[in-house]
Amino acid sequence: MNPVSIERHSDVAVITVDNPPVNALSHAVRTGIAECLETAEADRSVKAIVLFCNGRTFIAGADIREFGQPPKPPHLPDIINKLENCSKPIIAAMHGTALGGGLEVAMGCHYRLAVASAAVGLPEVNLGLLPGATGTQRLPRLVGVQKALDMMISGVPLPANKALATGLLDRVVDDTDLLQQALAYAHEIIAAGAKTRKVRDLPVTGVATNFFTEYRQQIARKTRGLFAPERIIQCVEFATTLSFDDAVAKERELFAACKDSPQSAGLRHAFFAERAVAKVPGLDPKTATRDLQKAAIIGAGTMGAGIAYACANAGFDVVLLDNDDAGLEGGRKTIEKLFSGGVERGKMSQADMDERLALLSYSKEYGALADADIVIEAVFETMAIKKEVFTKLDSVCKKGAILASNTSTLDIDAIAAATKRPEDVIGLHFFSPAHIMKLLEIVRGKHTSDDVIASSLLLARRLSKIGTVVGNCFGFVGNRMLYSYGRENQLMLLEGAAPEYIDKVLYDWGMAMGPNAVGDLAGLDVGYKVRQERTDLPDDPRFYRVANALAERGRYGQKTGKGMYLYESGSRTPTPDPEVAALIKAEALALGVEQRAMSPEEIIERCIYGLVVEGARILEDGIASRSSDIDVIWMHGYGFPRHRGGPMFYADSIGLDKVYSRVCEFNKRFGPMYWEPPRLLQKLAGEGKKFADYKTD
Ligand code: 3HC
Ligand code: NAI
Repeated sequence: MNPVSIERHSDVAVITVDNPPVNALSHAVRTGIAECLETAEADRSVKAIVLFCNGRTFIAGADIREFGQPPKPPHLPDIINKLENCSKPIIAAMHGTALGGGLEVAMGCHYRLAVASAAVGLPEVNLGLLPGATGTQRLPRLVGVQKALDMMISGVPLPANKALATGLLDRVVDDTDLLQQALAYAHEIIAAGAKTRKVRDLPVTGVATNFFTEYRQQIARKTRGLFAPERIIQCVEFATTLSFDDAVAKERELFAACKDSPQSAGLRHAFFAERAVAKVPGLDPKTATRDLQKAAIIGAGTMGAGIAYACANAGFDVVLLDNDDAGLEGGRKTIEKLFSGGVERGKMSQADMDERLALLSYSKEYGALADADIVIEAVFETMAIKKEVFTKLDSVCKKGAILASNTSTLDIDAIAAATKRPEDVIGLHFFSPAHIMKLLEIVRGKHTSDDVIASSLLLARRLSKIGTVVGNCFGFVGNRMLYSYGRENQLMLLEGAAPEYIDKVLYDWGMAMGPNAVGDLAGLDVGYKVRQERTDLPDDPRFYRVANALAERGRYGQKTGKGMYLYESGSRTPTPDPEVAALIKAEALALGVEQRAMSPEEIIERCIYGLVVEGARILEDGIASRSSDIDVIWMHGYGFPRHRGGPMFYADSIGLDKVYSRVCEFNKRFGPMYWEPPRLLQKLAGEGKKFADYKTD
């Protein structure tokens, strides 16, 4: 079916795009717009044209799936030129989100009208791209250089009313019957002489001499290591120095460089991987979900308070329970502080805060959980305590309540076995800080029912989180892999790489933080306690030896003012500590580990391939059903750079044959305890395939 059609409404031609789900500018849509435009141009009785979209949104951009293929004419910039050069006024009538190529199309039109609920933006940067269909040249002409840069560098869309104030839109109308209102606007324009006008003819406002240098400095930290933002700035600089056509030619060149960059491939992978997680293999997408209105959180500590805040913020009734007065009071204070902080920063109104606080209640009595639709347990990470809590839940919770544990490592099936309703039990592994981190690892137990999984995915969406379903094993996907990553970090400390050196190398590579700074933030006591409980640790005295030695000395990290680093009182800035350097040296000597200089490449390869090897085992074990799910977990739970697409995509992009041969070298050099190549890696490498090609049955 042709996704673009044309229809006459008296002397106005309406060109309608109908390409679900988001009216992306596929080849067929581009062709259709060009053809309909020719028809409208040729029809002498047509005095004006409205460009309109069916479905939930105006054009949401170029078709991202086409970026991996050779470009096919007609190209988008040519279509936009055609729109602008049309002799009859064209009105873009927008609803939903007019994004990327969609907004570029609208900027090629002569007039722009949107409903109040619409948002418009150029989010290409999130895909490692720049607006490559004249957007970098038109937006500064409409909204000014500074605003245009802010929009393109952040990628954040503007709500219609704000866009109207900047001059990007000509008119905002209420949300009733957009087409009728666009037709009325068209008739006004016809009555006023049916004038066309071209954005390309507008001047670009001047900027101060140092403007671009200062702008680069301002955004340096936020855009560290990224390829596209600098190219966006260059395009806007060209807008201020070159003619429109010359600058557009530069934009084309720089767009191609962005499109072909590994970063864009990684970011595009991230985009689709984040959407794929909602489609769980084996789970019928039509599975009915349970009605979730009241959430109970048990344990008012670091995680429980954050989860309770997130739930209240999303409109759930919440009861927070702790068996300790001080714990409960601490949780209440944390929550109130989070809300009042939101008001202070202008993120919410006082009225909103009051409304949300009223959703919360606090209790020490398990009876308060009787009418909860979902219970999320976040007490200490000790199996005996978890079992005791779940036994109580089984006796007090109503039939059909979802019983979830926020355990970060423990066996969900063992926890479920403490109840007579294991089908209602699931792991909901939030990440700290729970109200900020996007990831929710949804751990399905042996008996977890499908509707509990579907309801948990819905809960994730309601909390604006990315829910990723995984299987049950020690540490699930994220923390199981973290063990390998952390292990290599710990071994390399013994082998002579300083904590600050390892952290810098991995930070520069793109990780949000280095592993040693993360350890101090999370608390070295936390991992220490988990390792104490484990009975299956490798028989290796070097395993997490440095972290253990620090924890045994009460050096827990930021909370004690010293851990792997030193912290001045009240500061979160890590300072290298000579005492730690001496301690590491002494431990290495005692263990007979020879210290040496280490290259950044070795640090990266050992940490990242450590992840990849464990990720391959996780796929083999069926704990994750797709390599892209692992990527999502690492990008959203552990600060893995999005532009590298996650560890498994990164390995795919290096080439699994190369990764495999390096793992074999490590196996020879460091021994098979950690580096024995997984069969899956060997097999895929041998077949010239990628992790992305691997599907569980
Ligand atoms: N191309 C191809 N597919 C797209 C797409 C696009 N531009 N945008 C969304 N989709 C697909 C999604 O993959 C998803 O597919 P699925 O159902 O098979 O998983 C489906 O459309 C629905 O998407 P969402 O689940 O994200 O739906 P939402 O309603 O939550 O969000 C949206 C809608 C805000 C439009 C969001 O999808 C989005 O942000 N899309 C990307 C917008 C974008 O980045 N546009 C710029 C593209 S690059 C460009 O235009 C280059 C130009 O300058 C030359
Ligand atoms: P925490 O020590 O800050 O808080 C635990 C709270 O549980 C305390 O207030 C305590 O009084 C309460 N509690 C203990 N036993 C209880 C019981 N029987 N009934 C009611 N309340 C009880 O612990 P934190 O860090 O919040 O961790 C909680 C859980 O979340 C653990 O399972 C942990 O593994 C998991 N988790 C922790 C993360 C973190 O970064 N801290 C990240 C992800 C998961």
